[in-house]
Amino acid sequence: MDSTDILKQNAAKKAIEWVRPDEIIGIGTGSTVNYFIQELAALAHDIPGAVSSSEATSEKLREIGIPIVSLNYAGEISLYVDGADEVNTFKHLIKGGGGALTREKIIAEAANTFVCIVDRQKVVDVLGKFPLPIEVIPMARSLVARKIQQMGGKPVWRENFITDNGNEILDIHHLQIAEPQALETALNEIPGVVTVGLFAHRKADVVIVGDEPVRVQ
Ligand code: 5RP
Repeated sequence: MDSTDILKQNAAKKAIEWVRPDEIIGIGTGSTVNYFIQELAALAHDIPGAVSSSEATSEKLREIGIPIVSLNYAGEISLYVDGADEVNTFKHLIKGGGGALTREKIIAEAANTFVCIVDRQKVVDVLGKFPLPIEVIPMARSLVARKIQQMGGKPVWRENFITDNGNEILDIHHLQIAEPQALETALNEIPGVVTVGLFAHRKADVVIVGDEPVRVQ
């Protein structure tokens, strides 16, 4: 395991402190979350079910014996644990590197507490060095790309990638995101945009940074 993985694992271990028995939990997607699922295995018998953000996560949860429940059944959930590609000091996030941003944003919105787990390399002053993922309806891909170019971004089509929802992803390079909430709102207004990977309106409540030692923000 390389040093970044150790930091991710440390953050994942710390997040277990937010898990309460007998409560349905929301689970995100990615390598950091996979460490969290490994830790969750020891508590699986106390967890009645999980709302999962991707097919990949659902498979891992089934392996440890946690039933998958739909969000429509679960209603409001108390805890959502997920990773991020970047996080700033306001707990605004860029997410979607793994392409699961739509379901992740839905579950985050339904959760009372969103605990974000990252290694220290994900912490930035200004969001945007990591290309911002945007899920788009396939027929709107070029239209959305042109609109984003007019806004100063450089969209790159994530070729040969289809989301769990049957859509495509544009990764937007060359953005310096000084006002994350305003940009999230503006991008959401483009027809054909399904989900913007900026989590600024529904930001994280708690950020656990895998560092030496682990930091909770
Ligand atoms: C997936 C995500 C992930 O949380 C994000 O890409 C971070 O992944 P990792 O933990 O593998 O670094 O948003 O859509």
